[in-house]
Amino acid sequence: MIFFVTTETQQTSSIPNFPFIRPEPFGMPGQYEGLRATESVPQVRSADGKLAWLITRYEDVRSVLMDERLSTDKNNPGYPLQNRFFGTGKVDEEKTFFDMDNPDHGVFRRMFATEFTSKAVRNIVPRIQAIVDERLDRMAAAGGPQDLNTSLSLALPTRALCLIIGVPYADFDRLQEKTDLLVSLSTPPAEAAQASAELRDYFLELIAAKRLSPDDDLISRCIRNFVDAGQLSEVQLASTCRILLVAGFETTASMITLGTLALLEHPDQLALFRTMDDQHVGRAIEELLRYLAVAHVGRRRVAIAELEIAGHTIVPGDGIIIATDAADSDSSVFTDPRRLDITRQGNPIVSFGYGVHQCIGQNLARAELRIALTTLFTRFPNLRLARPSSEVAFDQNAMAYRAVDLPVQW
Ligand code: HEM
Repeated sequence: MIFFVTTETQQTSSIPNFPFIRPEPFGMPGQYEGLRATESVPQVRSADGKLAWLITRYEDVRSVLMDERLSTDKNNPGYPLQNRFFGTGKVDEEKTFFDMDNPDHGVFRRMFATEFTSKAVRNIVPRIQAIVDERLDRMAAAGGPQDLNTSLSLALPTRALCLIIGVPYADFDRLQEKTDLLVSLSTPPAEAAQASAELRDYFLELIAAKRLSPDDDLISRCIRNFVDAGQLSEVQLASTCRILLVAGFETTASMITLGTLALLEHPDQLALFRTMDDQHVGRAIEELLRYLAVAHVGRRRVAIAELEIAGHTIVPGDGIIIATDAADSDSSVFTDPRRLDITRQGNPIVSFGYGVHQCIGQNLARAELRIALTTLFTRFPNLRLARPSSEVAFDQNAMAYRAVDLPVQW
């Protein structure tokens, strides 16, 4: 029996808490299927105690994510926060496009989007490969068993983002520590707030240094193109660097670890994976993203105008939780959705969201996953779990569904 870590308060009323519990490591919450089948839009209780309407059907999820009558601004009353600490003490001048609606969202997002196009990511692939090689060299030198989270998965996303942003190599570990503190739900709120302020201050200092000696990186380009033109403040640039670091951290790290576990637990799929060329590996990554659906806390919105969703009237101030993980397992779109099939074609996943807020880092995440998983299984052809899979612990309360650790040997 798999051991699940649960730290949140237990159910106290007939309105269920969200996120729902996943009963098996690779299973989806049992409630989703019934909700999709009956086209129900139930009320659930978010971790901050607020009630919100839960959207689970693929078609509804996509249409709601496109609806501009729903706001992503956490300062709007009724916004259901992912956890009790997020958004508290938020200062307006530190707001990033992550929390903005159009037209501001588009204006600020465009300033950063060029850094994450498929072409921009292709250019840094050799450097991502070098990070993975260095981590696996260390793993090999130290010998097994080792926790894959620590050895590879948590290190890669921060380091890749640091390279893009322009953080000096010597600071990588320090930034990973701060990001770790910020995303972990076990960090006391005061400590999380301190880590957040320290990251912002770190980036403000880095901006000052890059002003004196610019380089070929995101910060230097943003100073030249937008800060100096008066379109972006230094505080906004620093806050955006922080949100980029945080947004891409836990999701990508969890995907590397759980992707490895899923392949090890499906030897037929792993055998196929080993034979795949780049294009087919790309398809396999899409399927792993769909199957594992690690972004399990739902996209969050609040209504700013009246609207109808699947026959339900939503009024201004109503919170909405959009379960992209439920949508990615909707059998009206994905045949036999709980089967891992890394050759699945025409796989229109919503794991990266949909509409204007769709993940800005998706090309980067895909590249990291592809490089991490292919290199890991090539470098260690005998990679295996160092303890039975039945003893792997999963954290259901983290921002991304994840394994607490994954000891491996080879
Ligand atoms: C497997 C890894 C990842 C997953 C599953 C994921 C998932 C998502 C999802 C579902 C959204 C939509 C949020 C919403 O609609 O409210 C999103 C947005 C976002 N993601 Fe990712 N993400 C991943 C990796 C990354 C990376 C590597 C970065 C780093 C650049 C990143 C940065 C962002 C940002 C900044 C947004 C907000 C976009 C906006 O509001 O316009 N993500 N991500």
